[in-house]
Amino acid sequence: MNATWHQLWTALEAAVSDASHPLRVGALATCDADGPSVRSVVLRAVDRSAPRLIAYTDRRSAKVGSIGMRPRVEWMFYDASAGMQLRLAGSASVDTDGAGVESAWAGLHDGQRREYALAVNPGARIDPGSAIATVEDARSHFALLRVDVCSVDYLELGRIVHHRVRFEQHRDWVPETLAP
Ligand SMILES: Cc1cc2nc3c(=O)[nH]c(=O)nc-3n(C[C@H](O)[C@H](O)[C@H](O)COP(=O)(O)O)c2cc1C
Repeated sequence: MNATWHQLWTALEAAVSDASHPLRVGALATCDADGPSVRSVVLRAVDRSAPRLIAYTDRRSAKVGSIGMRPRVEWMFYDASAGMQLRLAGSASVDTDGAGVESAWAGLHDGQRREYALAVNPGARIDPGSAIATVEDARSHFALLRVDVCSVDYLELGRIVHHRVRFEQHRDWVPETLAP
């Protein structure tokens, strides 16, 4: 396989197991009838053979509604020290049940689980005295956000030359060198 392809997936895999890795948090963009939205999300799992990226989220969040309307997303990562930008586009889907969700939930500690326990939807106004749901409710809010990747745009900014390569599924991931 191409060296750039290997390098970028190795870096993403490293970010999954290293909370301080520069690629750990990326910007996930969605688009619905109201226009684009972009937000930070943590990269939780990577499968380069699929290829696929996974985040955790609250099923009640606005992004889940947007994905239901238009599954096409782009997830952008930037490593300033390496001068590397990765833009992975693909089709997003949200899982709330099944072995993968149960296994991810089992791996969260109580503090992380409490992030899904708010009784009100993410983005809704919190009034004084708003109820906090139980951890059982939190589990029902927890979801895996999967992005099945169909294209990767790799950009490396060098001091003298920049290097940009695009990989697309419909071209069997054969690399194309592009003008940066
Ligand atoms: C550093 C950082 C990491 C975040 N990680 C996640 C995440 O993994 N999943 C998630 O749903 N929201 C995460 N958030 C919150 C989102 O950026 C966003 O505010 C929230 O999900 C609501 O987005 P939405 O209304 O567009 O759905 C993170 C925010 C920050 C600042």
